[in-house]
Amino acid sequence: MSSSAPIDSAPNAPASIDQSPAWRALSAHAEDMRDVHLKDLFRASGERHLAFTRRAAGLMLDLSKQRWHDETLHKLLDLARDAGVPQAIARLLAGERVNRSEDRPALHTALRLPVDARLEVDGEDVVPAVHETLAHMAAMVEKFHAGQWRGATGKAVTDVVNLGVGGSDLGPLMVTHALADYRPRDVHSVEVHFASTMDGSQLADYLTRLNPETTLFVLSSKSFTTIDTLSNARTARDWLLSHLVNGDGDRDLVMRQHFIGVSASREKMCEWGVSDANQLEFWEWVGGRYSLWGAIGLPIALVVGMQNFHALLAGAHAMDRHFATAELDDNLPVLLALAGIWNVNFLDVRAHSILPYDGRLEFFASYLEQLEMESNGKSVTNAGDVTAYSTCPVLWGQLGPNAQHAFYQLLHQGTQAVECDFIAPMRRYDRVEDNATRAHLKAQHRLTLANCFAQSRVLMLGDEAIEDDGPRPLHKRYRGNQPSTTLLLERLTPETLGALIALYEHKVFVQATIWDINPFDQWGVELGKKIATQAEQVMASHDGLESLDASSRGLIEAIWRAEES
Ligand code: F6P
Repeated sequence: MSSSAPIDSAPNAPASIDQSPAWRALSAHAEDMRDVHLKDLFRASGERHLAFTRRAAGLMLDLSKQRWHDETLHKLLDLARDAGVPQAIARLLAGERVNRSEDRPALHTALRLPVDARLEVDGEDVVPAVHETLAHMAAMVEKFHAGQWRGATGKAVTDVVNLGVGGSDLGPLMVTHALADYRPRDVHSVEVHFASTMDGSQLADYLTRLNPETTLFVLSSKSFTTIDTLSNARTARDWLLSHLVNGDGDRDLVMRQHFIGVSASREKMCEWGVSDANQLEFWEWVGGRYSLWGAIGLPIALVVGMQNFHALLAGAHAMDRHFATAELDDNLPVLLALAGIWNVNFLDVRAHSILPYDGRLEFFASYLEQLEMESNGKSVTNAGDVTAYSTCPVLWGQLGPNAQHAFYQLLHQGTQAVECDFIAPMRRYDRVEDNATRAHLKAQHRLTLANCFAQSRVLMLGDEAIEDDGPRPLHKRYRGNQPSTTLLLERLTPETLGALIALYEHKVFVQATIWDINPFDQWGVELGKKIATQAEQVMASHDGLESLDASSRGLIEAIWRAEES
């Protein structure tokens, strides 16, 4: 693949996608579908599950509980073609400058290319550098796992704390939890922890419990300017220096043995004091929320070992190949994206809940909240016009079984229409050695799946899910007709997890293509950072309060009074 020959846009692409014939056809079709209940769609065809289920890369995607039928899907596929989705996929994977506002490629897929692949960006093959970084990570991981990474007093490091936020935290946090079963045995054990909050509360907790002699910090920040991470890093550095430095010479040793830096800016890592040998680099063409596949994934590799890290990359790469080569109507990311477009833009379903039925996926919803909403929470098109249509829905989630006892009430009987993604592994616990425990745990897995399937069934059918047990008052009735998708993984392994994450990354890209927005920038978070700096200056200097609004003034004065009392 090469970026040298630009790939054409869709022929006859309309000025605004909502003016395209396919969009208009879908709007008219949505009028016909508005009063069609999911239970009627299932009644009309016993083949829906088969007709709307696709498989790839160890995943099974059941879209039969979406409020659509064949004709809807055909029209949505026309829309994808009108929006130039096939060309956009090719441009993304070829390394073209798809991140237009920042004029660079978005090449997270290059991080999972096999070593013998080639991908030229600006005339240079990026694959060797990607694999050099992986080799550097492997050398570091090996040293930790051999008990050879020693702190300044000579003791082997036992605890690694990742200091990062957003994409420099959520991906590694989510994957290390999801793959905790894959910890290699027979290696020196290293516990990995995560501290992201700028208020220092997570870090403060670790500092009371961990031993400075055996603790190392990974400073993860693409920009190396993020105040949240740098505040935590400064506190961590002072903690280590105050405990470990006796004379001048020891300071360098502490910096060398207790800090690793991961960033796109070598210069800033050097300025901060990360030693050259402990710097892991990545590139501006990797977006923060797409970065777990390279050096930002160091905590993952520390937990699961390099072999499993490579398996994670291989799973994602399998999904990339599928995305690149499958026909649109067999293409999992495309279909998942189209279900979302249908809900948001044509059925007015603008809330989306992520519901994994597997405790290991505890942080998957938080991860997707950033991936989807930071990517597609936009309202200006690539040409600089305000969109005339809705884009990313409000997306949130929680482990499904826990959410059943928390917010499912709203899904079943509230006033909001919500699309749900149910996610679960088909098989679990077959490698538990003790027979009795395995039998109990397998029964728990079956119980969990039963709950997962039951919930999507009730959301779909409403009252019809149960045998008629006579008239019930309204407050005990279920309306149903909430659309959902069920995603089953053959097992939760490094490979299938890689494929699952890549599936959602590509879904986001397809939706962004149809909405004609840039999923790879995040200008919306910049103003808040500037205003916070201004507010902090006022708070610290007691100067300039009058330039602020009445509410900010009142709040700051309350803090000053509290500090004085
Ligand atoms: O402020 C938002 C953001 O830039 C995210 O996009 C990013 O993942 C996070 O902050 C952390 O940024 P960095 O890795 O540069 O510290």
